[in-house]
Amino acid sequence: MIREEAEKLLNAAAKSCGAGEDFCVVFSNMPNCDFQCNSCFAAAKKLQTNPFELAQKIVENLKSSKNFEFSVARPAFINIRLTEKGLKALASEIAYQKPESKDKHIFIDYGGPNLGKAMHIGHMRSLNIGEALKRLYKKLGYKVTSDIFFGDWGMPLGLIMALLEKEGKFQDYLKGALPLTIEVMNRAYPAASKLKDEDSAFKARAEEITLAFQNKQHPYYDFWKKLRQVSVAEATKVCKLLGADFDLWNGESDASGYIDEVIEIFKQKGLARESEGALVVDVAEEGEQIPIPKKSPDEVQRYENPMPPLMIQKSNGGELYATSDIATIYYRNKLYHPDVLHYVTDARQAQRFTQIFRACKKAGISPAGQELLHTGFGTMNGKDGKPFKTRNGGNVGLLDILQMVQDKVEEKLKQNGTEYDADVKRKIANAAIKFADLSNVVEKDYIFDIDKFISFEGKTGPYIQYTACRIKSILQKAEESEESFDFYTPEQKAVLMGLAKLKQSYHTAFNEKSLSGVCTALFDVCKNFSSFYTAEHILSESDPAKKAVKLSLLRLTLKEIEQACDVLAIEIPQKM
Ligand code: ARG
Repeated sequence: MIREEAEKLLNAAAKSCGAGEDFCVVFSNMPNCDFQCNSCFAAAKKLQTNPFELAQKIVENLKSSKNFEFSVARPAFINIRLTEKGLKALASEIAYQKPESKDKHIFIDYGGPNLGKAMHIGHMRSLNIGEALKRLYKKLGYKVTSDIFFGDWGMPLGLIMALLEKEGKFQDYLKGALPLTIEVMNRAYPAASKLKDEDSAFKARAEEITLAFQNKQHPYYDFWKKLRQVSVAEATKVCKLLGADFDLWNGESDASGYIDEVIEIFKQKGLARESEGALVVDVAEEGEQIPIPKKSPDEVQRYENPMPPLMIQKSNGGELYATSDIATIYYRNKLYHPDVLHYVTDARQAQRFTQIFRACKKAGISPAGQELLHTGFGTMNGKDGKPFKTRNGGNVGLLDILQMVQDKVEEKLKQNGTEYDADVKRKIANAAIKFADLSNVVEKDYIFDIDKFISFEGKTGPYIQYTACRIKSILQKAEESEESFDFYTPEQKAVLMGLAKLKQSYHTAFNEKSLSGVCTALFDVCKNFSSFYTAEHILSESDPAKKAVKLSLLRLTLKEIEQACDVLAIEIPQKM
């Protein structure tokens, strides 16, 4: 690997000057410089010597190399420029890199729709971010298992049953005299949810039914199974629409058989205590204080109580969301032995995951070496900075969003005088949403600006798709040519360096558990390509050697854009 090779050379030279071996080589944004090393400052400080002189000394001690030219720039940078040979080596590295393979097994939990309820924006973000992280893990060679983790064991399905019972239709739906469809559920859930707030007897009945199916009592458990089937089919359809797929389509209900075992572990280890009839586990750490956000900058910093205890059993014996999660970790470890368990949810669940992770570590449910990770994402807001609403002011469901964006794409294409089939429009709309969702810093809230996201120009999903389509169309028109990496213009070189940075961005994304750097690097590739395309004739190039270079660069660029889009779960249409 070219970057690593430069790093090795530098470290060997540094070592021979007695300056240690902590020298890093990074991509450079400076003109006439491809990589740079910024490590001389720190090294000189340690040695108490002049950083510029140290940089000079290291460069003088460097072994000569065919691939690089090294030089020193003030105040104390080492600049690295690729020679023609070096450029060629970098291109081959990108073109012929073998897939990596690692032993580590990452288990990723994302999506998490709640059966009975419509999926919302939070689920969409989890699906987008989780799916991309999963694909990134696979690309980097990790063994990955993904689970959607349906919220299928709580009150919503109990509420639906209680309403149908109240309407005298429970038996008909149970026996199949009336067809149980998603439409039935979509009507029943909001009505039942409203009724629960107005009618305490109804609420009590729904809770009773919930407890009954959780205890696998007939006929409620049978009805629950029917509801689950219908709801899972619907959620699966929505996931497929967004390009999300899972190894496991499990849920809270799959943990149910392990709840007693898990509670027993806490009891036996003396970790559970009774509190007002419920069972709780203390998860606060000693000396821990949580700062309360200040209302104004000059306010004195105040601290909150330590992490609240985690309830693992309700006083009525009903099962809890947190205990489902703990029991799920328990059985995932029994069955799959992952090295890492990664959850992708709304940032508002951060504290509950901290509680759950600590409880699992304390009880040994998660082995000491296992990494438990939570990525919490921010909220998607409307242009007014407030939670996003539909045109008539309602709460936005996931399908509303998809439809809204597709309508906008359609409108825009019409204005441009282009007609595309429904599948192309879906792909463009998805790309607009996904690219916007993923290019954002994960934990930050962001503004959903449809017009901006669907633009074919600027840092958007459709622009990336458009670039790929443009390259495809040129390649289709071109005749076959030899592979040649003898790049000879600054524009060609910029495209190549961008591709190298894109490759590097996967590793940064892995460390940060965020795809935003990949989106930026991918956008830069497309921008660089555009400059190259503007500056140089491709199909009309008369010199066959030069043409071969250009077409090779096009093929390489297309391959890398396609791979990056695959990681982001963005599909490229046949044409745009
Ligand atoms: N169903 C949950 C929700 O809608 C998300 C599930 C997240 N995953 C988990 N293992 N708890 O908020």
